[in-house]
Amino acid sequence: MLRITLDVCASALLVLGVLASDNGLARVPQMGWDNWNAFGCDVSEDLLLGTAEKIVQLGLQDVGYHYVILDDCWSAGRDDNDTLVADSEKFPNGMAHVADRMHDLGLGFGMYSSAGAMTCARYAGSLGFEEKDAQTFASWGVDYLKYDNCYNEGQTGDPLTTFNRYKIMADALNATGRPILYGMCNWGEDSPWKWAQTIANSWRMSGDIFDTYNHEDVRCPCSGDEGINCALPGFHCSMANILNKVAPFVDKGNPGAWNDLDMLEIGNGGMTDTEYKLHFTMWSAIKSPLIMGNDIRSMDAPSLSILLHAPILALSQDPDSTPAYRRWRHRNAPAHGAGPNETQLWTQSLSGGDRAIFLLNLGDENATLSTSLADIFFDSGGARSDEAQMNWDVFDLWANRMSNEVAGQVVEANSTRGVNITSTYFNATEMSWADGLAANDSRLIGQWVGQMTAGMDWEVEVEPHGAMAYRLRSVGGTSRKRDEL
Ligand code: GLA
Repeated sequence: MLRITLDVCASALLVLGVLASDNGLARVPQMGWDNWNAFGCDVSEDLLLGTAEKIVQLGLQDVGYHYVILDDCWSAGRDDNDTLVADSEKFPNGMAHVADRMHDLGLGFGMYSSAGAMTCARYAGSLGFEEKDAQTFASWGVDYLKYDNCYNEGQTGDPLTTFNRYKIMADALNATGRPILYGMCNWGEDSPWKWAQTIANSWRMSGDIFDTYNHEDVRCPCSGDEGINCALPGFHCSMANILNKVAPFVDKGNPGAWNDLDMLEIGNGGMTDTEYKLHFTMWSAIKSPLIMGNDIRSMDAPSLSILLHAPILALSQDPDSTPAYRRWRHRNAPAHGAGPNETQLWTQSLSGGDRAIFLLNLGDENATLSTSLADIFFDSGGARSDEAQMNWDVFDLWANRMSNEVAGQVVEANSTRGVNITSTYFNATEMSWADGLAANDSRLIGQWVGQMTAGMDWEVEVEPHGAMAYRLRSVGGTSRKRDEL
C-alpha cells in the first residue's frame, strides 16, 4: 500500500516535470551514515548491515539518522549489457538484498557513483550511462545517490558545463519514478551553490574533509574568503578550513537543497571532544547534511552523546530554521584555516522567533567573548531594532549533554530501552521536532542560564577550539513585536 502511494506520488512529480530539489526530499538536511571516512574502500554487506542494526539499536535512527550510504569501491564493473554489477565477494547477495534489509529496518539505502568515466577509486563511473545506472539503482531499491566528480574528462571548468553534466543524472533519477535523494559531490568546483538548487538536494562545497581541527595543507589550497573563487578544491581540508570557506554563501542552502560541508568526523579520533562539539554544532547550525563517518559498531560514549544531542540537532531539523551565518570574525589569522586568536559570532533564525547564537573561540588560548542584542540583531537595525528592546531567556545548548555514564550504558546494553535517558534523549519518532519545540521541551531548548536585556553585554569565557551555543527565546512568548510583549 505504502509502495503504491510512493509510486503514485513519484509519477505525479514526473508528469509535472519537477526538478530534483522538488522531489520532496531533504526538506530538512538529510541525516545518515557513510562508510568513507572510517573505512575507505573496505566495504562489504556485513559492514553495511552491521552498521544499520547499530544505528537502530543505539537510538540514532530515532533522532533522524536515516540513510546508510555505501561509498566508492563496491562494483565489479559492467556486464555485457553495460549494467553495473556489484562485487560478488563484498556483496554476495547483491545490492537489492542490502536495500531490502535496510528497508526492513526502516532505513534508507544510499549508493555512490561518479559523473565521470571512473569513480575516484577508479571503478566504473556513470558518465554516458546515466539513464541505465539510474534505472539499475532504482531497481535495487536505492533511496539516495552520492554522485562524485572524478575522471569527468574535462567536462568542468565553468558552471554551465558542470551543471549540464550533473543535470543528466538528476533527470535520469527523476525518470525512474522512485524518489532518490540526489547528493552532488563535485567539491565546490564551479561554485555549485550558485546553480545546483534546481537539480540537486545537496552539493559538496569543498574538497574532502580530513579528521583534523585546523591543519594547514597545500592539498586543500583555498580557505576563508578565498574559498569563493577556489579553482582547485583539493582534499585534506580541516574542519576550521571548511567552516570559514562556507561562511560567505551559507544562505544558498534552502529546504530541499543544502550546502554539504562533507561528512562528520566525530568518533574518528583526530580531534578533541571540544573540537568535535564545535564540528557538530556548526554543521547542524549551517544546515549541512549530517552524515556520520565513524565506525558505529565500536561507538564510544562521548561520540554517541554528541551524535544524539537533541538541542543541537533541533537547529538542523527545525523545519523553519535558516542556515546560521557569521556576524563577525576577529582574527589574527594566517591565510589558511583559523588564526591563533580568532573569534567569531554566528547567529541563526529559528522557528517561532527564537534565535541561536554561537560564540566561537577558534584560537589556541582561552578567550572572553562578548556580544549584545544590538550585535546579534544587527541586520534588523541593531540597537534600534524591536528585538534589541526585548528581554530574552538564554538557554545553553550543551549544558544537558547525556553523561558518559548513561551513553556508556546505551552502548553496553545495545539499546536505549532499559536505560534512564529520558531527561536528555529526544525520540523524534514519538514527537516531531516542531511539536517538541512548540511545547518548550527542555530536551530541545537546552538549559536556562540567564536573560539578555537591552544594552547588556553577554560575556562568556570560551575554551580554545570551543563554541558556546545558546538558544534565545523572547520572554512572554514568541512574538517579535515590542508592543505585544
Ligand atoms: C571523493 C569524495 C569522497 C569519497 C571518495 C571516494 O574524494 O569527495 O567523499 O566519496 O571520492 O573515492
